Amino acid sequence: MRLFIAINFNEDTRAQLVFMRDELRSRSRRGNFSATENLHLTLAFLGECDAKKTAAAKSAMEAVAFEPFPLKIERAGRFRRNGSDLWWAGVQASKPLLALHGDLTDKLIAAGFALEKRKYSPHVTLGREIDTDAAPWTVEPFGETVMKIELMKSERINGKLTYTAIY
Ligand code: 2AM
Repeated sequence: MRLFIAINFNEDTRAQLVFMRDELRSRSRRGNFSATENLHLTLAFLGECDAKKTAAAKSAMEAVAFEPFPLKIERAGRFRRNGSDLWWAGVQASKPLLALHGDLTDKLIAAGFALEKRKYSPHVTLGREIDTDAAPWTVEPFGETVMKIELMKSERINGKLTYTAIY
């Protein structure tokens, strides 16, 4: 199973992310836009996991010191990918979010996971392979109180990228 650990959003936050995605879509010539139900914030990408690794991931999640905290989305931006950019909604790199990410990744690494060493830049992917003249923009910050993190399974079902929370 291909797994990652994520924060999923409530209806209100999702609706505001959809508004951003659709704004981007309306200003793009083409792109592969995220499905509404797939909008999420990744904390850690685990890749292929067998039963043993899946159990280790669950233990790491349980061991994290978690307190609910406010999450804010504040801008639209992109990662440059050779003319085929990935666009995202940027999440405020707040102290509690960075602490949660740091604690979780420490525990995953201690459990044997090889995680990316890149600096964490919290983002919600709005679309990939986007061709647009739009420039990054800011939005009135919106968000919600994060109550949980979830272990997500990523798979193709009848060709459609599908994410399912399994823990
Ligand atoms: P992305 O949206 O920036 O591509 C499921 O694939 C989630 O894990 C996505 O949010 C994706 O981020 C993230 N992710 C992080 N590293 C990844 C990798 N090496 N391969 C695929 N997805 C990755």
